[in-house]
Amino acid sequence: MNVNVQLGERSYPIRIGAGALAELPGLCRERLAGSHVLLVADSTVDALYGDRVAQGLAGAGFAVARATVPPGEATKSIEWFGRLCECAADARLDRTSAIVALGGGVVGDLAGFVAAAYLRGVQLVQAPTTLLAMVDSAVGGKTGVNLPQGKNLVGAFHQPALVAADTDVLQTLPKRELAAGMAEVIKHGIIRDAGLFAFCERSMDALLSGDSAALTHVIARSCEIKAAVVGADERESGERAILNFGHTLGHAIEQATGYGAYLHGEAVGIGLVFAARLSARVFGLPPADAGRIRAVVARAGLPVSAPDLAWAEVRRAMAVDKKGAAGTPKFVLARRIGEVEYGVAVPEAVLEEVWHGGC
Ligand SMILES: NC(=O)c1ccc[n+]([C@@H]2O[C@H](COP(=O)([O-])OP(=O)(O)OC[C@H]3O[C@@H](n4cnc5c(N)ncnc54)[C@H](O)[C@@H]3O)[C@@H](O)[C@H]2O)c1
Repeated sequence: MNVNVQLGERSYPIRIGAGALAELPGLCRERLAGSHVLLVADSTVDALYGDRVAQGLAGAGFAVARATVPPGEATKSIEWFGRLCECAADARLDRTSAIVALGGGVVGDLAGFVAAAYLRGVQLVQAPTTLLAMVDSAVGGKTGVNLPQGKNLVGAFHQPALVAADTDVLQTLPKRELAAGMAEVIKHGIIRDAGLFAFCERSMDALLSGDSAALTHVIARSCEIKAAVVGADERESGERAILNFGHTLGHAIEQATGYGAYLHGEAVGIGLVFAARLSARVFGLPPADAGRIRAVVARAGLPVSAPDLAWAEVRRAMAVDKKGAAGTPKFVLARRIGEVEYGVAVPEAVLEEVWHGGC
């Protein structure tokens, strides 16, 4: 299945489905200007899929250099950015060369930032291997690394030349990671597509068991939704903010817990339930729909609350979320499933009450 991201001359195709990785070399031939690529993967993904992808690219006529990085968020650093830039120089990449990011969001963001900066920009191919990367991070052009002071503080917008999301590789993805990616799928349903949301309700067991047709459907719909939002507001000056539904609290939970206790998607799961409750309380979302959101998040195997965390701690972390104006977080809230608005201020007392389970 193909989804096209419409961004004028920076438009690009997303190939989704079982076997998409086998099609990658041919797609690269069509889309890439030159014949040199640097294939970047973390060591886990490299061991599983690196040789196959490298051989495929070589078979299609590319000179392939490879770089392997350690798995995990700590690799999304200035240090690894520098090392990969040196790998690109050692491999003699030129302006017509490309970087192929094979992996989850960590490799996609890191290698994407190298592609944005090396020689002031070379082509980028995203080959996402986690559900989160397929439905979210590989699409939209945000790249970057973390600083000790905070996540994603240094980066660039750099759209890929192509994305290939192979549902077969999700068979080896740990179940916890698969569930975490499902949080972003559910979010896409809530913000733009009641049909996608209902599909998640109906088909969660098939999705979690790795059913390729069900996964292809939700990945394609998620990419279409993200592509449409990004197409309308590439640099987040307005509407792109709706992609942050559930993320104001999600980011705060990640920060308050030192980015260790919860995966991003797990923190977002809690954030989706919180935003749904807020929406029911102040924005007219029918309480039954807030209940459906909680139920589907739970069915995905994601947490729906963080009882171990104190509100004061979470609220403090919210105040420093870089997407809010100083001290006053703004929320994306739902009027109904499939329709949201951004930039909504919520009274302090309501936030605390809803955190404690009120609706
Ligand atoms: N750029 C964006 O718009 C955007 C959006 C959302 C999240 N992100 C970023 O994405 C990152 C998280 O990405 P992630 O959740 O994909 O995590 P990740 O890249 O760390 O991957 C998770 C783990 O799964 C392993 N893995 C990956 N694919 C596998 C496979 N097919 N089989 C077996 N193991 C596999 C990896 O080695 C890693 O240990 C964060 O840094 C976040 O900030 C970026």
